[in-house]
Amino acid sequence: MKLLTGNSNKNLSQKISKFLKNRLVNSSIRKFSDGEIYIEINENIRGNSIFIIQSVSSPANDNLMELLLCIDALKRSSAKNITAVIPYFGYARQDRKVVPRTSISAKLVSNLITKAGADRIVTVDLHSGQIQGFFDIPVDNLFATPIFARHARKKIKKKNVICVAPDVGGTARARALGKMLNVGLAIVDKRRPSPGKSEVMNIIGNVKGKVCLIVDDIIDSGGTIVNAAKALVERGAQEVHVYVTHGVLSGDAVEKIKKSKIKNLVITDTIDNVNKVKKAKNIEVLTISNLVGEAIKRISNSTSVSDLFK
Ligand code: R5P
Repeated sequence: MKLLTGNSNKNLSQKISKFLKNRLVNSSIRKFSDGEIYIEINENIRGNSIFIIQSVSSPANDNLMELLLCIDALKRSSAKNITAVIPYFGYARQDRKVVPRTSISAKLVSNLITKAGADRIVTVDLHSGQIQGFFDIPVDNLFATPIFARHARKKIKKKNVICVAPDVGGTARARALGKMLNVGLAIVDKRRPSPGKSEVMNIIGNVKGKVCLIVDDIIDSGGTIVNAAKALVERGAQEVHVYVTHGVLSGDAVEKIKKSKIKNLVITDTIDNVNKVKKAKNIEVLTISNLVGEAIKRISNSTSVSDLFK
C-alpha cells in the first residue's frame, strides 16, 4: 500500500502518512506557464494499492483537475487499485436540481473521478449521503461526529446542552451528535432567498437557557451559522458553540465569526485552513488525520470501516 498526496492539503497528508508510518510517494505536480497541470510519479508503483489524498477545496477547479490527473497517472503506471481519499468533496452542494436548468455538479464530479480510473472513494461527511449512489464504485463516507463528541464532552461542562441543526437538511447530523452526547435537538428553519444568502425563519424547539451546539457539514461564507447563532441568542440561548466538519471559510467568514455570538467554532482540517484561522480566538481546528488514516488501514487490511463508528 502506498500514499500519494496532491497539493490541496499536504499538511493533512503528512499527518496521515505519519499515523500510518508509511511515507508519501515521490511525485511532482507542476504547472505549465498557461496554468495546465503536469503530474509525474517519480517511483515505481506497479502492482501497488495506492491511496491518493486530495481535497476538492479552493481553488476547487485546479484541485479537482489535479486529482483527476493523479488518478490517470496512477492508472497508466499500472497501480493495482486506486483509492481517491477526498477529505473535502467539493461541488457536493449541487446534488439535485433545485430550480430548472441547473447542473448537478456532484454527479458530474462523481462521473469524472470514476472515469479517470478510481476504484474506491474515501471521504468525510459528504454533504448528502445519497451522493454515494452517484458512484458505481464503493464509497466510504467517514463521520467527524465522534471527534466532535469527544471535544464537547471534554470542553463543555455545563448542563442543559442541546444540539441544533442550522437547517432542515442538517437534522440527521445534529441528531447523531445529540445521540452521542445524550442531549435533545432543535432545528433552525432556514431560507435561502438567493445563493450565498440565508435567513432564519423560525426555530423549532425550545432553546431558552440552553447551551446550543450547532452542527453542520460546511461553513462557507459563515452566513448560515452566524445568523443561526444570533437567532438562538435572541431566543434566550445561554451560549452557542459550533461544530462544522469542512471549514471552507470564504471571503470575510473568519471576521464574521470573530464578531459573532459564537463562543467557539470547531472545524477539522479536511481543508488546509490553519493560516486563515490562526488569529481567530474563537476558532479551533481538530485534525481528522487519525480517523482517515485508520480508515485507510482498514481498507488496506480488508477489515470493517463502519466499526469505527460503533
Ligand atoms: C448547506 O446546506 C450546508 O450544509 C451549509 O449550511 C452551507 O453550505 C453553509 O454555507 P454558508 O456558510 O455560506 O452559509
